[in-house]
Amino acid sequence: MLVDRNCHKSLNYALNMSGAMPVYMMPRRNARGLIGPVPRSEMTPETVRQKLADSPLVNDKKAKPVLAVLTNSTYDGLCYNVRTTTTELSKSVPRIHYDEAWYAANRQRCLGAQTGCAWHGFGDLGGAYCMLDPIKVIVLTPGLNMDGNLESSGIPGPLLSSFLASRGIVVEKTEPYSFPALNTRPTASRSSGRRTANSFT
Ligand SMILES: Cc1ncc(COP(=O)(O)O)c(C=O)c1O
Repeated sequence: MLVDRNCHKSLNYALNMSGAMPVYMMPRRNARGLIGPVPRSEMTPETVRQKLADSPLVNDKKAKPVLAVLTNSTYDGLCYNVRTTTTELSKSVPRIHYDEAWYAANRQRCLGAQTGCAWHGFGDLGGAYCMLDPIKVIVLTPGLNMDGNLESSGIPGPLLSSFLASRGIVVEKTEPYSFPALNTRPTASRSSGRRTANSFT
């Protein structure tokens, strides 16, 4: 199986229970540790062939992968242009599983921001390759710059997330200087935007 190295643990359990052999596609991470997409270069037939050849788990080097799994969107909210990833992966595998735990909530939403430029820190991903998941909002707190270096002062993520928890807002997870907040349908309204903004004042 071709598996996103950043797959959900349920995939690891499935691999364990079924005895399937994983060959991993490596996602990008930026200097702040945020999880980006698997780049297209990890999915080309040449790379897949090389990964199979190099894998200590694959005995039969002529075997072909039967399934590919990509987490969409990534934990930190990058979602693929699935036409591009499907076109690329289907050159090597007959089945593709898009693990879209939260993404269904994006139905009928407008997805605007493309990640074709440098601000995201995930390197060159090519044009129209992925975009931001509007359900997942990453809040960066001061204290760590975009190169991953500590600044002389800042606000640790746990401090801000526990402050928000005291106001009834529970974040998804807490990193040293960031956290993702999930907009579910009831909280995605304008009034919730106001509520979140008010919590900071
Ligand atoms: C990407 C992803 N895949 C799978 C799961 C597991 O979902 P379930 O518990 O419904 O099997 C989750 C749960 O959060 C998830 O985020």
